[in-house]
Amino acid sequence: MSTAPAASDVVSVNVVVNGSPTHAVVAPRLLLSDFLRKQLMLTGTHVGCEHGVCGACTVLLDGMAVRSCLTLAAQCNGAEIETIEGATASGQAADLQQAFSENHALQCGFCTPGFIVSALEIIEDPASAGISPNELKELLAGNLCRCTGYAGIIRAVSQVIADRYKPAPSTSPSGPS
Ligand code: FES
Ligand code: FES
Repeated sequence: MSTAPAASDVVSVNVVVNGSPTHAVVAPRLLLSDFLRKQLMLTGTHVGCEHGVCGACTVLLDGMAVRSCLTLAAQCNGAEIETIEGATASGQAADLQQAFSENHALQCGFCTPGFIVSALEIIEDPASAGISPNELKELLAGNLCRCTGYAGIIRAVSQVIADRYKPAPSTSPSGPS
């Protein structure tokens, strides 16, 4: 005998996605990745392994990089979510996009949204200014790429960090007048 869905079979979620307040009614077990891709049609968040291994599904949840395939949409109630669409539309990732292009840091591009979002979390922290390429490799080790060999990706992110945090030119005192 089939039973009608109980009220507890759905939950109400209020989130801000890429700056837009969004209300939705979702199944309690709906993954954030499926919510973004299938309900909000934000398909820039890619789904590779669906097991938290590849990092392709990375989004920012209240500024922190999370794997949306391991996060329930219902857990995000009250949170701000930023996807690759928001990061690129706002211009926040413009320098990363340019650096990825210049450094051949992508080929098929499947991993790229996840890398860009993970890199944003790192780069927006001023403490990243002193980071070495090896430390960067470790910080980005949760994102997998099958194409590039990673060297271009590390170069691109290092370049953006160097550009964003380069010391302001010192103003030399003017000479005697
Ligand atoms: Fe989420 Fe691979 S799809 S980590
Ligand atoms: Fe193809 Fe990274 S560019 S998986």
